[in-house]
Amino acid sequence: MGKAESFQDLSIQPIREGQELWRWLYMELRAAILDGRLKPGSRIPSSRALAQQYSLSRGTVTAAFDQLRSEGYIGAQTGAGSFIANPLPDESVAMTPAVSPPATPQSTATLSNRGRFTTEGIRLLPASHSLGKAFRSYEPAIDLFPVDLWSRVAGRVLRRAPRSSYGQGDALGYLPLRRAIAEYVGAARGVRCHAGQIIVTSGAQQALDLIFRLLLDPDDEVWIEDPGYPGAHYALRAAGARAVPVPVDAEGLDVASASALSPNAKLAYVTPSNQFPIGITMSQARREALLTWAAREGSWIIEDEYDAEYRYSGSPVASLRSLDSAGAVIYVGTFTKMLFNSLRLGFVVLPERVVDAFAAARSVCDRHPPTLDQAILAEFILEGYFGHHVRRMRQIYSERMSVLAELGERHLKGALRIVPAVSGMRTVAWIESGESDLAITQLARSHGLELAALSEFTVTHKHPPGLIMGFAGCTPAELRRGVELLATVMHTSVTVPTRSQT
Ligand SMILES: Cc1ncc(COP(=O)(O)O)c(C=O)c1O
Repeated sequence: MGKAESFQDLSIQPIREGQELWRWLYMELRAAILDGRLKPGSRIPSSRALAQQYSLSRGTVTAAFDQLRSEGYIGAQTGAGSFIANPLPDESVAMTPAVSPPATPQSTATLSNRGRFTTEGIRLLPASHSLGKAFRSYEPAIDLFPVDLWSRVAGRVLRRAPRSSYGQGDALGYLPLRRAIAEYVGAARGVRCHAGQIIVTSGAQQALDLIFRLLLDPDDEVWIEDPGYPGAHYALRAAGARAVPVPVDAEGLDVASASALSPNAKLAYVTPSNQFPIGITMSQARREALLTWAAREGSWIIEDEYDAEYRYSGSPVASLRSLDSAGAVIYVGTFTKMLFNSLRLGFVVLPERVVDAFAAARSVCDRHPPTLDQAILAEFILEGYFGHHVRRMRQIYSERMSVLAELGERHLKGALRIVPAVSGMRTVAWIESGESDLAITQLARSHGLELAALSEFTVTHKHPPGLIMGFAGCTPAELRRGVELLATVMHTSVTVPTRSQT
């Protein structure tokens, strides 16, 4: 067993004025790993030893280690201690900051005007080096994904796939997968359609991008939920459309306000089964009002059911698409939340009159989705494994939500009111003191918690301050660690301590 690397000889740079302690330590250790002062595979001292050596609190050292671990620089802790990862994460990936900074004026200097407004202010989600972190909200429980089963199905599909599946694919997507999707959305969401109306996309995001580019002209007005999904907002901006932020209340998008703000909007983008990010289910009355408006104005409704399968209580709600008699609704779904993110397969259910245009546009983007991945997914669905997995996850997510609610009750009472989610993978927690959600989020993030502030998702309509907390992808142990840490964060001042105060 290797002796623990001494950190004595690492020529660690002194902390800069105003720098947070844990971040300073994390940056210094990361630099030492990347330039070889700390060797891959070497053992690192315990957090206690390091804290003593540098006169730091153990919490500071642990926060730095947690960040390094989450980025893949430190391997999992074993009985023998922690080790520098061997091999290190790919260097270009490893250099990706947790959240990449928005494009700077220099980096956009060579872009066209369209390029500039398409990219300005966009924050990329970092590639995952660790899973299940509290309170990450955009990944399902990948730790529980049946990897062996998926590999067996994949092996079988790859062994049996005809040579033709290595040739050019269908721009709309692999036909057996489109058939399986048509059957699934018909049974699960009442979406009556056939395979010829389905286009397989690279997740819901590509679906939104294609829809907005094909159906909107520059300056067309579009109703968006406020707060709402930034990915949709970015895609609208890229299409040159004008987003009209519409308030959301306990029944979902406020159709009366929307009609007053922009009566002839060309399109409405909504998440009715699980409003992003608050989790409201759109009421039946609002669904009818929205459909009536669209039929009257000849407008489109984009129904984004990105995680509709995860409903834990209340009666099932009919999809807008199943209630639509005017052919106004375009239905978007994705397998990234139901199976795993990197699969990057989603779909759109289209009215027949626009199918050819979508096939043409898809072929301009990237010709077609990868055939063999689609064949594996089709087999996974047809063999019944998909349905089984979703039912199992529904049960587990519901349990994880209860764990979060109980922990919140025990450790955060009086500070946060965590709303038990009736659907989806995240929930909202209202800040009882009325303190800024951004300030709390910033402080929590500096301790390694992946929280989002509700105000990060609002455009013009203010809400009381709230935190967006993912629970589905987090193990109960991680939820416990996260809640305890959050309780500490919320009971400390929002001012980050300087070194001399520690
Ligand atoms: C509301 C909503 N729509 C669409 C997406 C995009 O999903 P995908 O990963 O399939 O592109 C997300 C992802 O978080 C989402 O939250």
